[in-house]
Amino acid sequence: MESAAAGTTGSITRIEEELSRVAAGINPRLYGEGRPPLDGLGKASRSRFALLLSDALGGGRAGAERVAVCAELAHTASLLHDDCVDLSALRRGRPTLNERLGLNAGILMGDLVVSLALEEAWKISPHTARSLVEAVGKMVQGALLEERARHRRIGRDEFLEIISLKTGELFRWTAVETCGRAGTPALLETCARVGSLAGSAFQVADDVLDFESDPSFSGKDSLKDISEGKATLPVILALEDGAVSGEVSALLDALAAAPPGDLEPALRLAALLRERGFTAAAREKALAMIAETFPLIDTLPVRDAGADLKNFLLTLVHRNA
Ligand code: FPP
Ligand code: MG
Repeated sequence: MESAAAGTTGSITRIEEELSRVAAGINPRLYGEGRPPLDGLGKASRSRFALLLSDALGGGRAGAERVAVCAELAHTASLLHDDCVDLSALRRGRPTLNERLGLNAGILMGDLVVSLALEEAWKISPHTARSLVEAVGKMVQGALLEERARHRRIGRDEFLEIISLKTGELFRWTAVETCGRAGTPALLETCARVGSLAGSAFQVADDVLDFESDPSFSGKDSLKDISEGKATLPVILALEDGAVSGEVSALLDALAAAPPGDLEPALRLAALLRERGFTAAAREKALAMIAETFPLIDTLPVRDAGADLKNFLLTLVHRNA
């Protein structure tokens, strides 16, 4: 990652220090034994995106770092909630808060971390706080639409709407606010589009990893999405293909009817999707979304930094954890 995101180390350290400062403000009585919920940045994808976009805009790092702190807080809040929604036991290689302390604690800690994100955004400007409120609202709508689509066959358009809200929106917000801090308002629309595409591509790659990666590598459970009736692009592409749609549909029905803990239909469906090339096809679609950002990035003022940004966006799709 560091080669594409060359030179971001100092900024990432400062962002981590800021997050530790915010975490230190959370009373340990609220999370009991163990590490605070903001501990560990994970892949810091939103931060790296903000930093490299700011470089491509010629905006310097200070403003982007502040935006990144807010984005990482909002992202952490969304994961705390997401792990409750998905009943996930593992995140970033550690037991989730809901696993350690129960669902209610996970939900409420997520609420607390949203409030911390908004507080940090307010310190940047009232406008930044307001725009983050709107972005969080859209993320929640995406998560709700996904919840309403569980165990239902959805098409590509509905899927793309869900991911552009639940994941694309925070990347879009990060890009727009970074652009604002860089003092390049004429490029807001361009940055918004780059952010939205990057976020959607990131989510598609994440969904592919659910089929392909090992938990010891990804730090989270595998086969969660299909086991829990979540529609992801490999499944949607397979359902669109007349040669396998019947078989896939029957496996989805078996999955919905399977007792909890029976992984057999999920394993068979995952094998089919991998062997018939649907996970690879989904990754190609993610790559196509990233390719769509390239002509937009070419219009940004600092060309060399734009090339670093493009390389970084490619790593979002080619990552294996
Ligand atoms: C990961 O999805 C989750 C998200 C991208 C965000 C979900 C949004 C919410 C739960 C709404 C709440 C938002 C806030 C800001 C409070 P995933 O389950 O596909 O990814 P995973 O495999 O990493 O779990
Ligand atoms: Mg999840």
